[in-house]
Amino acid sequence: MKKTVFSGMQPTGVGQLGNYLGAIKNWVSLQDEYNCLYSVVDLHAITIRQEPDVLRQNSLDLLAMFISCGLDPDKNIIYMQSHYHGHTELAWLLSCYAYFGELSRQAQYKDKSAKNAENVNVGLFSYPVLQAADILLFGTNFVPVGEDQKQHLELSRDIAIRFNNAYGETFAVPEPLIPKTAARVKSLSHPDKKMSKSDDAGSYISLLDPAETVMKKFKRAVTDSETEIRYDPENKPGISNLLEIYAVTNDMTIQAAASEFAGKNYGALKIATAEAVIGKITDPIQSKYFDLAKNVDYLYEIMRKNAARARDLGDKTLQNVKNKIGLIL
Ligand code: TRP
Repeated sequence: MKKTVFSGMQPTGVGQLGNYLGAIKNWVSLQDEYNCLYSVVDLHAITIRQEPDVLRQNSLDLLAMFISCGLDPDKNIIYMQSHYHGHTELAWLLSCYAYFGELSRQAQYKDKSAKNAENVNVGLFSYPVLQAADILLFGTNFVPVGEDQKQHLELSRDIAIRFNNAYGETFAVPEPLIPKTAARVKSLSHPDKKMSKSDDAGSYISLLDPAETVMKKFKRAVTDSETEIRYDPENKPGISNLLEIYAVTNDMTIQAAASEFAGKNYGALKIATAEAVIGKITDPIQSKYFDLAKNVDYLYEIMRKNAARARDLGDKTLQNVKNKIGLIL
């Protein structure tokens, strides 16, 4: 029996290099070994105010990008979170087993509520309960997540264990899946921060950037005033970021990348990294993406079909949970 993997990504657009090298590329490597569900988590996105048309477009774009990056929509369940009501329904049930105190301690909540002081809505607070529902609905065994989501996964585990203790074995207790190779891609202009689309345009590589733009951005990447290329994230965040991007893009270890560039100059590393990234994202990713973008009907068909597959799986859990709690079925 194959084990189950679930992960989600918020629709903030087609995505940037960090989404690909840090998550989607790894998801692709799991698609044969596991039963995988990969969701565009549009319901999580609305905890921050969204422009309706932009949200719709971003959601469609991210779905197309999942497929363009190599996720097979027949092998994996690729769908919109909002297309299966089980997520919100289980989230309510689980919220009655999640404590105010533990939600208050979530770093992402503290961070986002500080940044959006004018809109500290209840959804922002209960965000991790919806995430727990995403995961627990499908008997998920493994969740590929980055550093910043570990606390949320820990909470999902706590809720699962708490429920199982109260009602008997109900949920599989999910474990983090630490990817063998995934990059923690940093900003090109502030290499001490994560690469993010909310920063200035030169600081991130969009997966749709043309080759010349990618080259230009890497050439301008912030480094340091030394000349030596070595991997040292603490003291040389810019160079270390380039080495990491180069290594993960080429499926090699960071050590191997560092020795390849030992004695070379910064310019050589920048150009080689840009070329490696261009090689990956222009073809096949962008060529597939532009094909899919023309074929919206096909994208809708995938969405519908896969939401139905998610529902068939999740409804079993939902019924079981409702029954255990004492709701009349
Ligand atoms: N909160 C995650 C993020 O922002 C996205 C997410 C939602 C997720 N539901 C999930 C990730 C379930 C893993 C599993 O990155």
